[in-house]
Amino acid sequence: MTTSPPARSSTGSPGIRDPQLTIRRILKVNHAGEFGAIRIYGAQIAVARRLYPDIVPALEEMRADEIDHCRLFREAMPARGARPCRIMSLWSLGGYVLGALTALGGRNTVWICTEAVESTVHRHLEDQLAFLADRDPQLHALIASIQQEELAHLREAENNQRARGLARALLLPLVGGLTDLMIWLSTWGDSNRMRADMARARN
Ligand SMILES: [Fe+2]
Ligand SMILES: [Fe+2]
Repeated sequence: MTTSPPARSSTGSPGIRDPQLTIRRILKVNHAGEFGAIRIYGAQIAVARRLYPDIVPALEEMRADEIDHCRLFREAMPARGARPCRIMSLWSLGGYVLGALTALGGRNTVWICTEAVESTVHRHLEDQLAFLADRDPQLHALIASIQQEELAHLREAENNQRARGLARALLLPLVGGLTDLMIWLSTWGDSNRMRADMARARN
């Protein structure tokens, strides 16, 4: 994808003091998040190869998508003055541990983890799309296309679950909360400010 510098927008609403800074943070957290997802799937694939090889092809397909997303966000950075996250090693370690632990829990917990992560990501992408619509149409288009693939991952994770019991009830909020926390840390709280800003815009 080719990127040209986004137009300096004057549409910043009161909750967002510097839209360009928020755009850089969006790229930073999305790039780091995709890297974390690659590590989650990588750990799950390593465990699944030994314990449940039947789900390896589906996981490999998703990881290939995440590798693609990670590259696309990295390529969109220079034109917007964005740089990769400083806590990439934390995303890497966190992703790998989360992937390994959920894979050791069984096929079902693999898919519960995917559902939790992808649904949290989907919610954040929705916020980003609303924020970017008139501020950076190029990045908006990129995120909208990536969001379609994340939604396909979410649907597949939902469809592959054979049981919806206690493990799901406990893991969904736990993994979703951890993902939210990582996103919040990587955007220095901008993820929450964007959400509040858009809520104000709707009222
Ligand atoms: Fe992705
Ligand atoms: Fe995904």
